[in-house]
Amino acid sequence: MSTSSRFAAVTAVAGIVATGLVSQAQAPVTLRPGAAAGTAPPPWVYTVNAPPPPGAPAAVPANADAPLSVPGSDVRLTRAQLGDLFNPPDWRPGNHPPPPDVVAHGRKPDVRACGYCHYPNGHGRPENSSLAGLPAAYIVQQMADMRAGLRRSAEPKMRPPAAMLAIAKASSVEEDAAAAAYFASVPYRKWVRVVEAATVPKMIVAGAVFVPVTGDGAGTEPIAGRILETPEDVGRAELRDSDAGFVAYVPPGSIAKGEALVTTGGGGKTIACGVCHGAGLKGLGAVPPLAGRSPSYTVRQLFDLQHGTRSGPWAPLMQAAVQKLTLDDMVAIAAYTASREP
Ligand code: HEC
Ligand code: HEC
Repeated sequence: MSTSSRFAAVTAVAGIVATGLVSQAQAPVTLRPGAAAGTAPPPWVYTVNAPPPPGAPAAVPANADAPLSVPGSDVRLTRAQLGDLFNPPDWRPGNHPPPPDVVAHGRKPDVRACGYCHYPNGHGRPENSSLAGLPAAYIVQQMADMRAGLRRSAEPKMRPPAAMLAIAKASSVEEDAAAAAYFASVPYRKWVRVVEAATVPKMIVAGAVFVPVTGDGAGTEPIAGRILETPEDVGRAELRDSDAGFVAYVPPGSIAKGEALVTTGGGGKTIACGVCHGAGLKGLGAVPPLAGRSPSYTVRQLFDLQHGTRSGPWAPLMQAAVQKLTLDDMVAIAAYTASREP
């Protein structure tokens, strides 16, 4: 990037940070098709549940009243309690400050508790997002964008982002502010282990997340340019344990390729991200941190930004960065950003 355009970028960010970033810059965005434009949303990051195999019996929980537990916690919950969207499981009340009502309970009928999907400590899952440690002003702006119809997923069939939209439409700005202040106050710690691998376990999407196939269909297959993010411990993830993270398999060589793009801009292909996302990609003012966050979430956002389904007032700042990226570039960038220390 030239000195003058770098200066322009820094000035723009300083400007949005100084003004609290709201409602300024409403000028319409003209989106030129980017390099990955036209490609369908990749199904391995926009996870849609696999249909049950023909003839499969409906899954019936063995015993909905049996007390369940996770290692290192005294909390006991039943299967029925686990599914309560207005009283989500909190196995580890010690790993976060006391959450506000909207995070712990939400508001019936439409504002599901933020802590259900994003976990009470805001570390989240690949099919949603981590909120811990994001700038409060950024969180508030994203809620406003979703409510205004300026941010939606490029894959409408993926259920969790659609559910998020309904929540943002129903929540109040006071609730947004309370949730934002809370999540911004929780430090984000490393939660995704990035592994370069040519071969990965065969997986299916269940509950919007990849899980290894067990039994007869188990085996391995080539990674084939994808990112596949899966729980470190499927059983604990199914119980929504906020202390059991994820492993992301990425193609061999992608971290180094991503590092070159992120740190230098790849000779005009993109823009060095640290200018806006801060040193070590740890965030700068209201611009969100990227280091150590879910790489499948990151690819979805790069794809959504490039395809204009994410087009809030701050999205134009990302245009030059995403415009020319191919899907392989996005994979490499996300592999690198996820591998950094938060
Ligand atoms: C039903 C599950 C669910 C619940 C409950 C939920 N979210 Fe989300 N949230 C999501 C998903 C899924 C995404 C990612 C959307 C995407 O991939 O674009 C998301 C993304 C977000 C983002 C964007 C994060 C970023 O880095 O840009 C914010 C902010 C957010 N949620 C805030 C909230 C708040 C505040 C609440 C409670 C009022 C809440 N969410 C409740 C599923 C949920
Ligand atoms: C000129 C400033 C600028 C540059 C350069 C920039 N970004 Fe951004 N980025 C932003 C802003 C501002 C947002 C918030 C956009 C919005 O609100 O829709 C953002 C959002 C994002 C998001 C979504 C984060 C989330 O939590 O949802 C990702 C991912 C991202 N940027 C990655 C990158 C990468 C990778 C690069 C470098 C290749 C980069 N950005 C370069 C300003 C920038």
